[in-house]
Amino acid sequence: MNDAAKQLLDKYVKTVDECLLSFTADKPELQGVVCEAMEYSLMAGGKRLRPVLCLEFYRMCGGKDMDSILDIACSIELIHTFSLIHDDLPCMDNDDYRRGKPSCHKAFPESIALLAGDALNTLAFEVISNAALDGRISADKAVMLISVLSKGVGVNGMIGGQVIDLACEGKDVDIETLNVLQSYKTGALIEAACVMGVILAGKFELIPKAAEYASALGRAFQIVDDLLDVTGTFEELGKPIGSDSEQHKCTYVSVLGENRSRQIASQLTMQALGHLTAFEDNGFLSELTDDLLSRRN
Ligand code: IPE
Ligand code: IPE
Ligand code: MG
Ligand code: MG
Ligand code: MG
Repeated sequence: MNDAAKQLLDKYVKTVDECLLSFTADKPELQGVVCEAMEYSLMAGGKRLRPVLCLEFYRMCGGKDMDSILDIACSIELIHTFSLIHDDLPCMDNDDYRRGKPSCHKAFPESIALLAGDALNTLAFEVISNAALDGRISADKAVMLISVLSKGVGVNGMIGGQVIDLACEGKDVDIETLNVLQSYKTGALIEAACVMGVILAGKFELIPKAAEYASALGRAFQIVDDLLDVTGTFEELGKPIGSDSEQHKCTYVSVLGENRSRQIASQLTMQALGHLTAFEDNGFLSELTDDLLSRRN
């Protein structure tokens, strides 16, 4: 990534982090522990890829007032963090570390981790509807955003993907099934992030192009995640390595092997870069897309 792109990414991440911190500033006396757990997982770090994608699609599509839609971009990170807290639970992937720190259910009681995930899920939709109530976005746009995000999270989105992921544990699955699993589990939320940026900017005709880009990027992203589970280190990733084989997960590495997985991730990255040419001023996102292929965390 070139220096200018790196600086812009750092700026985005800093802005997103500040906004995320503001969501849990108010901790009610009796039930404040759930806000502490939400804040703990939100602020543990993370690449902030999804809000950055949303903000960048908004900008590339001519959006000019980033401050006024920042919390909406961050609502996707609320959902993502909820998915990670639940993903790590003993009944799911049973992982004790996330983002370099003990998982939410290790730092807090399991019941509170479960509820923190639930509260992050509903907070995302509260944030979007508040933006319409405040008059920052139209009610029509709020409905479109809520429709896209709720579908990205639900039975035909991330949650559905997690169900398939669990059902496939220990089984021999074909590449078609794995692609469906991935497109729900990881692709759906990445697609929602990109499409929400386009909706916020009001360039509705570009939604299909953003979705095509997201589909290719999402698959490449999950393939790299699967590769890193085998080739990364705990220090780099901040989460346990070897978790997939321990849980007998079906991953791109288990189905296709490391070399073929790497080849496909690189082909998909090329495809994603191709789809970006439909967008003006795509320099930063092209750099980021390319960089995600060789990421080490
Ligand atoms: C990890 O997502 C889970 C997947 C969907 C592959 P990220 O790799 O974006 O995790 P953070 O947000 O940087 O921690
Ligand atoms: C999880 O996929 C995707 C989610 C919906 C959270 P993984 O289980 O591979 O994610 P990591 O590797 O634990 O981050
Ligand atoms: Mg998982
Ligand atoms: Mg996991
Ligand atoms: Mg993984």
